[in-house]
Amino acid sequence: MNSWEKLENLCLNCNKCKLSKGRNKVVIGCGNKEAKLMFIGEGPGADEDAQGIPFVGKAGKLMNMALEGIGIKREEVYITNIVKCRPPQNRNPEKEEIISCMKYLQAQIRLVQPQVIVLLGNVALKSILGEEYGITKTRGMWIEKGKIKYMPTFHPAALLRDETKKILFWKDLKCVKKEMEKIQI
Ligand code: URA
Repeated sequence: MNSWEKLENLCLNCNKCKLSKGRNKVVIGCGNKEAKLMFIGEGPGADEDAQGIPFVGKAGKLMNMALEGIGIKREEVYITNIVKCRPPQNRNPEKEEIISCMKYLQAQIRLVQPQVIVLLGNVALKSILGEEYGITKTRGMWIEKGKIKYMPTFHPAALLRDETKKILFWKDLKCVKKEMEKIQI
């Protein structure tokens, strides 16, 4: 999977796990394919499954507002998810679904070559950095692995359920903005 064309073809025709059976659209990712900053969520919801674009529903609108607030344009960054097909009833993706889809995400990271990755929520955090991590303890802390700096923070959907998390989410994104100013997007 050393080109976007190959990767996109494989994703669009993928039936490696049972999520493929219920999907309307494969949600591969969107944004700047040469971004220095990447966001990784959990998996598509109903709106994303209908449109084939990540973070276009309620959680996405909240994320867009936060990005705008810190002066980062959505088109400047690359946005994707751990799994590319919608889990039924928005349940968490299962381990084997995450494993099936991981090759696609690894290829996306290789192709984009971001310097900073924001991990949105526990599923993204644990899938990328390991089961030993938890979002409540790890959010807001830089974790450096290889050439990439990871910033775990709450999933925007968690902010819709608990408003008190908004302030911390905002704080974490401001940290990211500061880092990006050093790097220059
Ligand atoms: N939640 C996610 O994790 N990803 C999306 O694309 C939308 C909602």
